[in-house]
Amino acid sequence: MKGIIFTEFLTMVEQAHGFDMVDTIIEKSDLPSGGAYTAVGTYAHTEIVSLVVNLSQETSTEVPVLLKAFGQFLFHSLAKGYPSFIAESTNILDFLEQVETYIHVEVKKLYPDAELPKFECSRPHSPNQLHMVYTSIRHMEDVCEGLIMGSLEHFGAHATVERQSLDDDAELFIITLP
Ligand code: HEM
Repeated sequence: MKGIIFTEFLTMVEQAHGFDMVDTIIEKSDLPSGGAYTAVGTYAHTEIVSLVVNLSQETSTEVPVLLKAFGQFLFHSLAKGYPSFIAESTNILDFLEQVETYIHVEVKKLYPDAELPKFECSRPHSPNQLHMVYTSIRHMEDVCEGLIMGSLEHFGAHATVERQSLDDDAELFIITLP
């Protein structure tokens, strides 16, 4: 997993709880990297799991709540860091479709070792309702929900987001515009 995910996670923790908390969870997590992340480095995704589990214990907040909050925070950082990927689209549903067909394709060109999820998008019922089927061996469904919420905020869209686990280890997100 790319270092930018870790540096943004630790930035979020620092903003919410201060640097001592960053120090505490790094120490408690016993990380192979030692917690010294650089944005372009690559680290085991299990390190983020350890950090989140320790943050959950320290703050008495459930892991899924933290992961969703992180996804939301991360979207705004990615939007600032890669503004050109977002300027391409205007409509939120078109934008979300482009995560698979354009944004993550460009990310993979920039960072060939990036580990990205797979999205299958369709609009089976209405042009105002997007179905996104998320698949990833890293199972970051909660981060994904947060990223979707962050993009809705960014686009000022008031869509509803529903979630459903599918049989084949995938998660369906249904985003519906009013
Ligand atoms: C400007 C927009 C975006 C950029 C630049 C971007 C870039 C990235 C990068 C660099 C990673 C880390 C890859 C790694 O660690 O190896 C990542 C992971 C991920 N991205 Fe995006 N992304 C964007 C938008 C989105 C949106 C809107 C979604 C959700 C619909 C999304 C879903 C995910 C998920 C769930 C992961 C975690 C890896 C996994 O689940 O396997 N991304 N993205």
